[in-house]
Amino acid sequence: MTQLADSIQIRNTIFKNRIIKGAMSEALANDAGQPNDSHLKLYEAWAKGGLGCAITGNVMVDFRAKNEPGVVVAETERDLNKLKAWAEVGKRHGMVQLVQLSHPGRQCPKGLNRETVAPSAVPFSPALAVSFGTPRELREDEILDIIQRFATSAAICEKAGFEGVQLHGAHGYLISQFLSPLTNKRQDQWGGSIENRTRFLLEIYKAVRAATSENFIISVKLNSADFQRGGITEEDVIYVFKAIDAVGIDLIEVSGGSYEAPAMAGVKADKRKASTIAREAYFLDFAEKIRQEVSCHIMVTGGFRTAAGMNAALESGACDFVGIARPFAVETDLGQKLVAGQDVRYAVEKIKTGIPMIDKMAIMEIIWYAAQFKQIAQGKQPNPKLSPLKVFLHYLKGNVTAVIKGQINSRKSA
Ligand SMILES: Cc1cc2nc3c(=O)[nH]c(=O)nc-3n(C[C@H](O)[C@H](O)[C@H](O)COP(=O)(O)O)c2cc1C
Repeated sequence: MTQLADSIQIRNTIFKNRIIKGAMSEALANDAGQPNDSHLKLYEAWAKGGLGCAITGNVMVDFRAKNEPGVVVAETERDLNKLKAWAEVGKRHGMVQLVQLSHPGRQCPKGLNRETVAPSAVPFSPALAVSFGTPRELREDEILDIIQRFATSAAICEKAGFEGVQLHGAHGYLISQFLSPLTNKRQDQWGGSIENRTRFLLEIYKAVRAATSENFIISVKLNSADFQRGGITEEDVIYVFKAIDAVGIDLIEVSGGSYEAPAMAGVKADKRKASTIAREAYFLDFAEKIRQEVSCHIMVTGGFRTAAGMNAALESGACDFVGIARPFAVETDLGQKLVAGQDVRYAVEKIKTGIPMIDKMAIMEIIWYAAQFKQIAQGKQPNPKLSPLKVFLHYLKGNVTAVIKGQINSRKSA
């Protein structure tokens, strides 16, 4: 029976254990989206801490579509040397690294980019419309361009020495927007039936596979559900999983939710079956179901906190890997601790400033954890007691500056 400490091979890459750090946006890049020594230090801390595999925070395939300030962009070979050094950090300590490639579509805060694009011009719910504008519908030539961008970015990652990439197809980002009938109202070959809504994902997979070698790992993170009324049905989700499995995906990470319904952070936890709550992870029920339908490797992320719970999930055969995100932001040596049978010490709780309007924003989670990454990258210890309000105010200042800079730059180039 599979246990956390067991190794496994995918293509020609050995994963020394079954623990994968789920993608967490580092927010450490400069305005130009360049990786730097902070990324190297952060990933070195996880690599030294016994982690088997790290999926990087989402890396953008298009500079014009950034989901937040400080995100890395890999659309050209401009930063190849730094990316090579980043890939090398993992190799030195036997930690596999998959770069998460992403396009946020409509999930870009107002003012950060010149415009926001998506499958259809669907506005956000009133609470989020304060921060996120209504996107413009993509033209077909733009859809084809984005598909090619994923391939270009993947080829850059392979050249840099990363073992693979993960396509971000979950959490309401662009691929997920194409899959969901809530955000995809198109009447052409990219919308309507589930076959059409899946086309964007499949075309990206095919383009990435064609642009990389046969040993390069391609993973995708997918939602088990949107957790919104009128969202993708379970039948359609199963269709998507089977379709991407059939074309040869190596690993599917099971997650759920979006900025509008952040189930990935456990917000819908109360809706889970009692048996799943006992087994910690948010999406294990679904993983068990999908396991019967696909032959690729499965990873489940969200809610795992004890070595016993993780081993039980692996032993049950529901997944091949456990994905863990937030605890790694405050316990960098969690990899070796879990393999030794110790539990996560950090009690993951909702990050709250006490101001309801702010606390409703999914972004609050992201920025508090990003502040921890900064600490680690500076060689300091993470601080679980860090004030959320202080972090939010700092973020606000950074965003306002980014918007002002963006406006100045666009005036200059106009
Ligand atoms: C700070 C932060 C940044 C995140 N960034 C990403 C991301 O870039 N891509 C992604 O797929 N998920 C992202 N997530 C979601 C995590 O990968 C994961 O699905 C979620 O935190 C649930 O796992 P956990 O309960 O182990 O934390 C992020 C989560 C946090 C807290």
